[in-house]
Amino acid sequence: MLYDFDTIIERKGTDSLKWDKFDTQLPMWVADMDFQVAPEIIDALSARVAHGVFGYAVVPDEYYESYIQWWNTRHNLKMKKEELLFSVGVMPSISSMIREFTKENDSILIQTPVYHIFFKVIKDNNRNVLENELIYDGNSYSIDFDDLEEKLSQETTTMMLLCNPHNPVGRIWTGEELAKIDCLCKKYNVLLISDEIHCDLVNPNEHYIAFENVIDNKDNVITCLAPTKTFNIAGIQSSVVHISNKELYEKMKSRLVLDDSSQINVFSIVATITAFNECEEWLNQLNEYIYQNKLIVDEFLKKELPVIKLVASQATYLLWLDCNELKINSREFNDYLNNNMGLLLSPGIQFGECGDNFLRLNVACPKTMLLDGLRRLKEGVDNLH
Ligand SMILES: Cc1ncc(COP(=O)(O)O)c(C=O)c1O
Repeated sequence: MLYDFDTIIERKGTDSLKWDKFDTQLPMWVADMDFQVAPEIIDALSARVAHGVFGYAVVPDEYYESYIQWWNTRHNLKMKKEELLFSVGVMPSISSMIREFTKENDSILIQTPVYHIFFKVIKDNNRNVLENELIYDGNSYSIDFDDLEEKLSQETTTMMLLCNPHNPVGRIWTGEELAKIDCLCKKYNVLLISDEIHCDLVNPNEHYIAFENVIDNKDNVITCLAPTKTFNIAGIQSSVVHISNKELYEKMKSRLVLDDSSQINVFSIVATITAFNECEEWLNQLNEYIYQNKLIVDEFLKKELPVIKLVASQATYLLWLDCNELKINSREFNDYLNNNMGLLLSPGIQFGECGDNFLRLNVACPKTMLLDGLRRLKEGVDNLH
């Protein structure tokens, strides 16, 4: 079956964070997609709605089994049910882990530029943000391992948040890079949290490597997994944490209850099980569509707007645009585009100081919408000069 990613779905007036929060004609910022979910999910949810009773739910075995089956067959990661815990979301899990496994004023290491909520969750919990800036060579990003080691070796550093694959720079970390990170975290006794929420959104010939697949001893590692980005069901809320270390597992289990993050909703169960068990072909076609969108952006920028450069992207539908040549800071530029062109992207400064002079563009939308966005971007830049 050929799935439809071309139809524009009206989202204004649906309480959408992306479309209804700001007054703008074309939002291409927050990480959700403007595609309808797979028809299999719509059917399954419709059948659940038709039942008409939506009382409290428990997490059924099938929920965990759907994750286990998916990661086993698609990513060769072996997990057991007794190592998984449901959580309403990846960020609530990370927030809980920060409270459970670190102390106030500890330092938590992140690799910037990175998903802006990493900063927020660390600061909100009264911990210090410790940045290991990624190295940008004008085309793609890599890890500064000397700086990483120096920062992990600091006494106050007790946790590292890894974004694998990385939002916003679009890198899939190699097995070698992951193994080096593991080695350093173990050497300095740092708990590694691997956020792998974007792992299924990769270019057609790319494959992400699960952090846990490159290491032998998983005692200091916790992985966060979810179907929400992959299948565009973030508003339904579903995720798990995978913890092999029994002691950490038991602590986290109690913490999620304490933090009221362990109660699942009935739609989350149905959507998750259907997504993992029935929607693999939809995802393959989605990844192809997103990849074509990336090629469109690349070609457009090269031909029409060479002053902006596309950073090489292997994963995620979030493109990182190098606007250094424009010599305007990202917040000013983003506000200008919104106010004058009705186009809303994410200013790079949100992802750390080193992200200023970049914009993040969400290309998970129908082609016609993408072309409209690119046209607005070009017109905005032309008028800027
Ligand atoms: C790296 C990363 N982690 C977590 C999240 C949010 O996860 P959740 O909605 O499950 O809290 C996002 C959303 O964009 C993200 O990019």
